[in-house]
Amino acid sequence: MAIAPSPVPEFAVIGGEQVETYLAGRETETIALVEKTYLLHHQGDTVNPPSYFLRFPDRPENRIIALPASVGGSIGVDGVKWISSVPGNVALGVPRASAVSILNDPATGYPLACVESSIISATRTAASAALAATVLGADRRIETLTIVGGGLIARYVLHYLLAAGLTFRHVTLYDASDSHAAEFAEHLTRTLADTTVSIAESAGSAVRSGDLVLLTTVAPEPYLTDASDFDHAPLVLNVSLRDVGVDVVLTACNIVDDVEHCLKADTSVHLAEQRTGNRDFLDGTLADVLLGRVQVPFDRTVVFSPFGLGVLDLAVAKRIYDELRDTGALRELPGFFHELQRLP
Ligand SMILES: NC(=O)c1ccc[n+]([C@@H]2O[C@H](COP(=O)([O-])OP(=O)(O)OC[C@H]3O[C@@H](n4cnc5c(N)ncnc54)[C@H](O)[C@@H]3O)[C@@H](O)[C@H]2O)c1
Repeated sequence: MAIAPSPVPEFAVIGGEQVETYLAGRETETIALVEKTYLLHHQGDTVNPPSYFLRFPDRPENRIIALPASVGGSIGVDGVKWISSVPGNVALGVPRASAVSILNDPATGYPLACVESSIISATRTAASAALAATVLGADRRIETLTIVGGGLIARYVLHYLLAAGLTFRHVTLYDASDSHAAEFAEHLTRTLADTTVSIAESAGSAVRSGDLVLLTTVAPEPYLTDASDFDHAPLVLNVSLRDVGVDVVLTACNIVDDVEHCLKADTSVHLAEQRTGNRDFLDGTLADVLLGRVQVPFDRTVVFSPFGLGVLDLAVAKRIYDELRDTGALRELPGFFHELQRLP
């Protein structure tokens, strides 16, 4: 008698090299996948509970965040991203963040794969920022880019902004560390042929020169508190979430990825809610803008605050898993789940 195939999929391990190889050259496709996932989330075809922050009393600067999520629609995956942040890593010459995702099979619940996810996390963050820049900046003239915080995320976002078709005549950079600023300025000069690059003396002066302002620091609390730095009404990609002061938030048009997620963990918009006692300063989500339900002004500061949704990580990871499975390139660990009989 033929033995019925097991309903339990083999467990696979997808390393960073396979992830990077898959994503290279697929920037437009990845931006479209992020857009699709935001819309699925807006329609209620996802489950994205609050992230869980594991913190350490003896190492308060470090954290590990669990982002459980489920994506429905044609993507169909459950799982969790587990991402740690150790700012001290940067001094050791390695990235601050490291991550894995576990993908679960919605049919059996069995884990399908462990996927290296620091690249996926940076990529989905960058794809989301590029989507926001093109959608929220559609009616703006963007010639100058300001980057505050020149680290790994800034590098990925820059790559995606260029891949999305944005061009810059000038880039101004500010980093609290002179050596990081110098390294990133070199990266900019190597990457951007026809663009002038300068290092600003302060974050405020950098902001004042940017049509598009990218915030990618690790600042724990706002330091861009002078609302007059934003008098020229830039579009702000508030990726690091805690840089701008409440006065800036309250004069801007505020777009988030998810309201409940973003109004947490002392983000700038959360601080604005704490000060005002309401959410009236929020204008909508990126999905609202994509669907034409919210119009963004071109003559007022617009701040996009993406909390970073686990559904995006899982959607990108599942796309990679599917491709590797379909091309026979999945590295499986046969027998990883060993006890597959309820009774002998
Ligand atoms: N919203 C999201 O979805 C999302 C996703 C991933 C990362 N992030 C955030 O992006 C940020 C950057 O991450 P990274 O991996 O690039 O970090 P990184 O450590 O590689 O780079 C951060 C840079 O910011 C500089 N910096 C720190 N404080 C500063 C300040 N007050 N002013 C100017 N520069 C300052 C540092 O010197 C460093 O060069 C983090 O806050 C991270 O939490 C957000």
